[in-house]
Amino acid sequence: LPTHFTLPSGDKIPSVALGVWQAKRNEVGNAVTVALQAGYRHIDGAWIYRNEAEVGKAVQRSGLPREQVWLTSKLWNSFHAPEDVEPALDETLTKLDTEYLDLYLIHWPLARKDGQPYDKELTENSYPTWQKLEEMVAKGKIRNIGVSNFNVRRLENLFTNPLKIRPAVNQVEINYWFPQPDLLKWAKEHDLLLQAYSPLGGTGKVKDTLTVPEIKEIGEELGMTPAQVVTSWHIQRGTNVLPKSVTPSRIIENFQVRALPDELFNKLETAATTHKPYKRFNPSKGWGLDFDIFE
Ligand code: A2P
Repeated sequence: LPTHFTLPSGDKIPSVALGVWQAKRNEVGNAVTVALQAGYRHIDGAWIYRNEAEVGKAVQRSGLPREQVWLTSKLWNSFHAPEDVEPALDETLTKLDTEYLDLYLIHWPLARKDGQPYDKELTENSYPTWQKLEEMVAKGKIRNIGVSNFNVRRLENLFTNPLKIRPAVNQVEINYWFPQPDLLKWAKEHDLLLQAYSPLGGTGKVKDTLTVPEIKEIGEELGMTPAQVVTSWHIQRGTNVLPKSVTPSRIIENFQVRALPDELFNKLETAATTHKPYKRFNPSKGWGLDFDIFE
């Protein structure tokens, strides 16, 4: 399996990242330390996870040169106004104790300051926010830029603008229950890397994933654990995989990926793409939006 994917900038992004969403403070630092020791070189974080300072300390403590660790963060919904982008980025850089990010994403296609109704115009058209991100790349504060939770309609919308830099990635929910084959096909045709969040199914659904008969059988046949079958499958499909764990044995386990023989890969791909898709995570209602953020 490829250890890296190459982005349009030429930068090589490590195939497996440690995801730190829902990794609590006082847990996340140790998880990062264990991951870096196990060979991970990619941490997928965000401003809103509220653990960036602890992630930054653990990366520093590892003693690894900065250029050997890939750091991703994400611009929160309340900072989409162009004048808010750089201060938000600066806060993340300070917390992570670094001069630059390898990748910075628009976290959601939603522009909304705290306590205010959402900004319809800036939500439907992310270009003003995007231009500011392009400027941050020019300034050297970010190496690559992308989006998260964008559907094809929103991506196409963004692409109609005279972009200086095209989005390098789109980070979305992808797992056995919601494998998104159409989005994946579209992304490949547009030289856009998909990053799979909740790759094991997400908290509450992981057990169901790891007991899917096809996944168990493939694991038994290859001497891999079900989690390893799943993380390997993601990479083999051509997506970046971002498993979250704060448990040392699982962090190590999830990183041990290996190519599945074509026949077994196809068996899993067929199983994943022929059941009714089930999307676990949609915050639209919880956020009180009058629209579905994925439509
Ligand atoms: P924990 O962090 O307590 O180890 P996802 O990446 O799909 O969102 O899944 C994250 C959830 O899956 C977390 O609850 C995490 O628990 C759990 N998890 C991560 N890796 C494994 C694994 N190899 N086996 C079982 N559960 C795992």
